Amino acid sequence: MLLITSQNGKVGIEAAMQVLKGGGSAMDAVEAGIRLVEANPDDHSVGYGGYPNLLGEVELDAAIMDGSDLTSGAVGALKGYPYPISVARKVLEKLPHVFLVGEGAARFAAEMGFERRDLLTEPARETWEKRLREDLPPDVLAHLAEQPDLWRYVEIATDPERAKGTTNFIAQDARGNLAVGVSTSGWAWKYPGRIGDSPIVGAGLYADNRYGAAACTGTGEMAIRAATAHSVVFYMKMGLSITEAGQRAMADLNDLGGRYLSGMNFIAVDRAGNHVGFSSRTDATYLYFTDAMDAPAEAPRLCVPLRECWEKNLSAD
Ligand code: GLY
Repeated sequence: MLLITSQNGKVGIEAAMQVLKGGGSAMDAVEAGIRLVEANPDDHSVGYGGYPNLLGEVELDAAIMDGSDLTSGAVGALKGYPYPISVARKVLEKLPHVFLVGEGAARFAAEMGFERRDLLTEPARETWEKRLREDLPPDVLAHLAEQPDLWRYVEIATDPERAKGTTNFIAQDARGNLAVGVSTSGWAWKYPGRIGDSPIVGAGLYADNRYGAAACTGTGEMAIRAATAHSVVFYMKMGLSITEAGQRAMADLNDLGGRYLSGMNFIAVDRAGNHVGFSSRTDATYLYFTDAMDAPAEAPRLCVPLRECWEKNLSAD
């Protein structure tokens, strides 16, 4: 039995292992672990306490995928519900659909009996307000929601330093089944309704028992364009080793044209349970935990550099 997570999975990885040791499925373990990250108010990239969009509203994205049959559930831009990973799993279990967004996702969460909660914590609100005060004129800030050209301000306010975050969990249970889950509040100060890679099967996550699983954090716009999580698994399907598959999927991102904020991390497992973390940064780590270990361990990610493509304020006119 195996769990691997992004670094911020620390608050949930031990509970997830208890689920596996208790005979729970990989899907149960992924959901249980991610719920604890979503509940952590100190993690400003996931769930309750996550940084809001440009208008100060917390919008959450999450998805879960079962590698035994490729069933998947996802929610995007979900407001007011602190456990989007559980709502995503209900989408998988109860609907003939894969992905709900916005008002429909919130309506479904209510129908499933999930409790509403104000997700914007005071520290997150203060950071949002301070950031916007630095760059937006006071008259614009006072009437931000009514601005007819909100798009002009998103790139001024959007902070590349706060595009990071998101949590990834991959589990392999006693039956050898793989599951993967991802949850995020997305890019801080994003345009309302922006959805990143996290709830998009193939972009932010992918699992197939026959080959392996992968999950991303980093700039969602890149992973969407290159279908990064699917690429990792697909390259393993094509016979590459897990290390080669990850390097190849990361290298694909350097082929993207246009202007975008560069930065990608992903974790991957192959069907034999070998695991590797990858990052475009030099100092990134991930966590792993097998049933033979007393506690989770931290491992360095393999650095695969990406070219820088970000310049600010180019859309102002
Ligand atoms: N990778 C998370 C996001 O871009 O929203």
